[in-house]
Amino acid sequence: MDETLISTINKLQDALAPLGGGSASPVDLPQITVVGSQSSGKSSVLENIVGRDFLPRGTGIVTRRPLILQLINRRSTPGSDKNSLIKLDGENNQEEWGEFLHLPGKKFYNFDEIRNEIVAETDRKTGKNAGISPVPINLRIYSPHVLTLTLVDLPGLTKVPVGDQPKDIEKQIKDMLLKFISKPNAIILSVNAANTDLANSDGLKLAREVDPEGSRTIGVLTKVDLMDRGTDVIDILAGRVIPLRYGYVPVINRGQKDIEQRKTIRSALEDEKVFFANHPSYASKSHYCGTPYLAKKLNSILLHHIKATLPEIKMRIETALKKYQQELSALGPEIVDSPSSIVLSVITSFCKDYTSILDGESKDISSNEL
Ligand code: GDP
Ligand code: NA
Ligand code: MG
Repeated sequence: MDETLISTINKLQDALAPLGGGSASPVDLPQITVVGSQSSGKSSVLENIVGRDFLPRGTGIVTRRPLILQLINRRSTPGSDKNSLIKLDGENNQEEWGEFLHLPGKKFYNFDEIRNEIVAETDRKTGKNAGISPVPINLRIYSPHVLTLTLVDLPGLTKVPVGDQPKDIEKQIKDMLLKFISKPNAIILSVNAANTDLANSDGLKLAREVDPEGSRTIGVLTKVDLMDRGTDVIDILAGRVIPLRYGYVPVINRGQKDIEQRKTIRSALEDEKVFFANHPSYASKSHYCGTPYLAKKLNSILLHHIKATLPEIKMRIETALKKYQQELSALGPEIVDSPSSIVLSVITSFCKDYTSILDGESKDISSNEL
């Protein structure tokens, strides 16, 4: 039931995408948004959660448009057995693929090509001069190895314009991040490098502006491997520095050298596990450390959040449904085959399905009392 709920939210997100996701959209759907300073490791964290190399990463301002990433858990189906008998080189297997909203119907089985398309599509909107644009890129990843989640990768906070970047780049990025994280349905993944001072974290400051109680912010501490010998993040984890209701998860991503040497995510995850299990500060709580724990935690936070906001979402959809039905009947029967009325009937029947799923969920919740 939980998986159904998240995949319904994903479908709705696609159905509403033509409306621009802005004020025209009748609902703000729950999603996890990533904020933090430039190069704090935001894109690396997302890649590790997905378990595949596909995001442009590196030093400097690499992420320059929002990327709305829908992970869809797709169990291997018996029908695909035929395909899996044809053993490809692993990079190219048929059970995991990506699809961009701006390239409908085109399946990307090669994740290097996904990265190239993100770079190309970023440049199409922003030019190559490291400019930024608030227009999102929508990407779906289908895989049996991911948890169903919606994540948004965002440009990092930066203070100093480089090259011919506009002088107000800091404000532009801040405004863009605020637009995403101020939505009450946004879960904020605040990414901070463990080898920098948490008290000076711009990402955390921004998160607190829109979520002062820390009730929808979760902290991620990256680069734990780069901390000075003898120091650790135990005080932060224990909530003694800047407490967050959902706490912090320490992780280790691949460093620049690892990326250059093409270290795989699989071996990075193994090394991460070994690091926490053997480190004197973390050994006793190592199952609360690392990327797999972060992914599990995110999934349960997202579900909890969706359930808590269901009544509001349902009300908005019902209002939208009423409006569309009125518009549909106003068109009259003689032009019922026109493109706009076809779109309206699709949305209308979708909203109907959606409300009935929500009805079932609401009953579950009232008996469960979260
Ligand atoms: P973003 O700008 O926040 O998206 O950061 P990126 O994910 O692009 O990472 C910036 C740089 O930091 C890259 O060179 C990464 O390899 C490196 N990096 C990220 N996380 C870690 C980590 O946990 N440990 C180490 N050693 N390097 C990391
Ligand atoms: Na970067
Ligand atoms: Mg990035």
